Amino acid sequence: MRVLLIGANGQLSSDLLKLSGAHEVVARTHQELDVTHVRKVQEEARRVQPEVIINTAAFHKVDLCETEVGRAFEVNAYGVRNLALAAREVAATLVHFSTDYVFEGNANRPYTEEDIPNPINAYGVSKLAGEKMVRYLWTKSFVIRTCGLYGHAGCSGKGGSFVEMMLSQTGCG
Ligand SMILES: NC(=O)c1ccc[n+]([C@@H]2O[C@H](COP(=O)([O-])OP(=O)(O)OC[C@H]3O[C@@H](n4cnc5c(N)ncnc54)[C@H](OP(=O)(O)O)[C@@H]3O)[C@@H](O)[C@H]2O)c1
Repeated sequence: MRVLLIGANGQLSSDLLKLSGAHEVVARTHQELDVTHVRKVQEEARRVQPEVIINTAAFHKVDLCETEVGRAFEVNAYGVRNLALAAREVAATLVHFSTDYVFEGNANRPYTEEDIPNPINAYGVSKLAGEKMVRYLWTKSFVIRTCGLYGHAGCSGKGGSFVEMMLSQTGCG
């Protein structure tokens, strides 16, 4: 399968790349392809003709999203819209990553797909808007909500891998 991997410098992409196996992965970093540029996103999809587009790009510094709401929406909502349009045009499956922040977090049980989202911060609202863009624009798509990533690579928004962060906070790092 030919896969177009978006946000290729990031934590999740770095580990996904190691699993590419027999698949042909065309990896694009933020520098190489900014998801907020709709024309460039569409041109790249036309050029690569992927069967799958995996979007790991996000602006997910939760506190900063409160003061930079425009940027949060540009990347997490409109950027995702651009990818959904591009995926639709080339009939590629779109795999998009979202977050548990689409929920307010008051439940005392695990959330399910049937629970109604109710984000309580700008990051969560922008990510939910991204989800809606995917669902509204392109049915051949998957939205994966995760609450944490625990790979080898570090996360730009959180400063290092989860394990390293926990070790340093407990004085063991
Ligand atoms: N990390 C977690 O624990 C966690 C938890 C829940 C959900 N998620 C979700 O999982 C996904 C992957 O997270 P991650 O930890 O791998 O994030 P990450 O390490 O911050 O990687 C995100 C990548 O997206 C790139 N990017 C940012 N803006 C972009 C743009 N406009 N165009 C193209 N690329 C852009 C970043 O490049 P630059 O750094 O060069 O800007 C970075 O390489 C995200 O959707 C995130 O919301 C993550």
